[in-house]
Amino acid sequence: MELNNFIKESVIKLNPYVVNKTGPEISVKLDANESNYAVPGRLKKKYADFIKSTPVNLYPDSDYSKLLVLLENFFGAPPKNFIFGNGSDELILTILLSLKKDVVVNVPEPSFSMYGIIAGYSDFKVNRIKLGQDNFDLPGGLRKGSSRRNIYFLSCPNNPTGNYFNPEIIKFLLEYDNNLVVVDEAYIDFSGRETFIKSLRKYRNLIVLRTFSKIGMAGLRFGLLFAGAGLIREFRKIKLPFNVNSLTLKSIEFFLENFDYFKGNIEKTVRQRDKLFGTLSKLDFIKTYPSEATFILIELKNNT
Ligand SMILES: Cc1ncc(COP(=O)(O)O)c(C=O)c1O
Repeated sequence: MELNNFIKESVIKLNPYVVNKTGPEISVKLDANESNYAVPGRLKKKYADFIKSTPVNLYPDSDYSKLLVLLENFFGAPPKNFIFGNGSDELILTILLSLKKDVVVNVPEPSFSMYGIIAGYSDFKVNRIKLGQDNFDLPGGLRKGSSRRNIYFLSCPNNPTGNYFNPEIIKFLLEYDNNLVVVDEAYIDFSGRETFIKSLRKYRNLIVLRTFSKIGMAGLRFGLLFAGAGLIREFRKIKLPFNVNSLTLKSIEFFLENFDYFKGNIEKTVRQRDKLFGTLSKLDFIKTYPSEATFILIELKNNT
C-alpha cells in the first residue's frame, strides 16, 4: 500500500509530538510547565477514599450535576456557556473541527505550538503573527482590521514568552464580526489579570480556554471551553461523547472542594518565579524577560 495515497500530505510531513521522559532519574523537568507540587499525603488519603466508589464499568455520568455547580461557582459562568475537554488541547481541536476551511487561523509567533500543529494537519491556512522583538506584544498593525474571516489563538499570558498581550488590541479584534478570538488562559492564575470569561456577554465571537494542568492537575487532563450559548451548542455536536473519563470528573469535583491547597501552591509558585526573576536579572550574561506565567524566558547574550 502506498501511504501517500491515503494519508494527507499535511500529516505525512509532520513529526510526532515528543513527550520527554519523567521518572526518578530526571531531577529537573521544566519542558511542559507542569506544577512542581505533588498532592500531599494527608490529602491523598481523603482523595483515594473519595474516588474509590467511582463506577468504572459504566460510561462517565452524563449528568455531573454536582461538578457543574462547583465549576459554575469557580468560574462564574453557567453550564450553558461551557464544555469540558480532555485537556484544553482537545478543545483547540474541537474549535478547528467546527470551522469552515476558508477561515484563516492566526497564530502569534512564538506561541504555544499546538495551535499551528492542529490547524496545519486540519488543512487550514495558518498566518503567523510576528510578535514585537523587545516586548513580544501583538503588533499594532492588527488594529487595521481585515475583510477575510479570521480566528486568533491568543495565549494570555503567552507561552513561551510569559507576557500578557495588550488587552486593548484583543478588545479591538473582538469588535470585528469577521473575527473569532480564542483567549487561552492556561496561565492566568499566575498573572493577577481579570479573566475574559467576564466578557462573554459582551462578545459573541469570544472563546475562552482554561485548563487545570498548570495549577497541579496535568495528569487528570481536564480543560474547559467557555463561549456564548450559540457557539457552545455547535461545539457540543463535535465533541466526542464521554471525552472526559469518570475518574477525572470525580477528581476535579474533589479538588475543587479542596482548592485551598492548590491556591497556596499558586501563590508559592508566583513568589518563587519573582524571586528567580530577580536573581536571573542580576546576571550580566543573560537577558531576562518579565513573566506573568510559570516560566521565565531568558536569552543568552553573545559569546555565552
Ligand atoms: C498556552 C497553553 N494552552 C494550552 C495548553 C495545553 O493544556 P492542556 O494540558 O489542558 O491540554 C498548554 C500546555 O502547555 C499551554 O501552554
